Amino acid sequence: MDWTLIAECLPMQELSIYRPVTPAGESIAQLSFLVFAITGGIFLVVSGVLAYCIVRFRRRGPNENEPPQVYGSVPIELAWTAAPLLIVFFLVLVTTRTLWEVEVDPPQPTVGDKTLFVTVVGRQWWWEYRYDYYDGKPLGFTTANELHIPAGDDDAPRRTFLTLVSADVCHSFWVPRLGGKTDLIPGRINSTWIETKSPGLYLGQCAEFCGTQHAGMLLRVDVEEPAVFAAWLEREQAKVVVGTTEESAAVERGRVAFQSLSCVNCHAVRGTPAVGTFGPDLTHLMARKTLASGLIPNDRERLRSWLVNPQAIKPGCLMPSFQLNDDQLDGIVAYLETLR
Ligand code: CUA
Repeated sequence: MDWTLIAECLPMQELSIYRPVTPAGESIAQLSFLVFAITGGIFLVVSGVLAYCIVRFRRRGPNENEPPQVYGSVPIELAWTAAPLLIVFFLVLVTTRTLWEVEVDPPQPTVGDKTLFVTVVGRQWWWEYRYDYYDGKPLGFTTANELHIPAGDDDAPRRTFLTLVSADVCHSFWVPRLGGKTDLIPGRINSTWIETKSPGLYLGQCAEFCGTQHAGMLLRVDVEEPAVFAAWLEREQAKVVVGTTEESAAVERGRVAFQSLSCVNCHAVRGTPAVGTFGPDLTHLMARKTLASGLIPNDRERLRSWLVNPQAIKPGCLMPSFQLNDDQLDGIVAYLETLR
């Protein structure tokens, strides 16, 4: 496993909830500061009194007996019941306010709303993204592992609403700078939303233990300027161009191998006989920067070693090694490189 890449991709500050870029993230960061301040204050008072007592009463004086004992003091009982009650009540109030701010029900897709709707399917151990609607228009394509969403501008907030479901076990979608966690639970439909004016790459991690490769289920969210996002959207919606005359013999060989081997049972390439839905959709594989759910960069060398033996890179993952020979490997890599 290429840990250097992970280290580069995941510097700690990229996973900090204290650098939020969304309204929901800001509410959560503010709440946690407030709660830290209150509980920190309690800690200081309690440990301060404790430390004072330890130092002040270290030794008993020569003539001291037991200090006076107090039983059943109503004022003391009232004070130590009321004070914690008030503190807890205040914490409940501020938490409820944050929940109100963070939870927004998804609206109906409407033309002109500049809102993106994506269904996120958690799978062992990768993310499927089904693009449903943008600006009220149906999209209907599927991609994997790298979520692209538009940044807001002064004209429109350009919100993204995510519908979260699971195909197998519980997962959790968590990109700390974009807001709180939302679980993906089998048989349940959850939702969350993202709104930000800050374009950039935001990283995250599945936050619910989901099996062997839980730690290898990384999240990448590309927040793009509206024009860049529109270009990406157009490219993703296009079918791949098949059967062009410029294709080399290797590409042709690779396509035949890809379509005649087991690849097509799990993977789809829109507009070709490959229609499997168990693994990631490969229609525009080359538009993705990483492979294996963010674990390795998507370049020729690593794509090839992934095909040689996925288990060496992501042990336990559901793609087996097909024992391809060099000829098949070169061909399939050449074919996959045409999926732009
Ligand atoms: Cu998916 Cu942890």
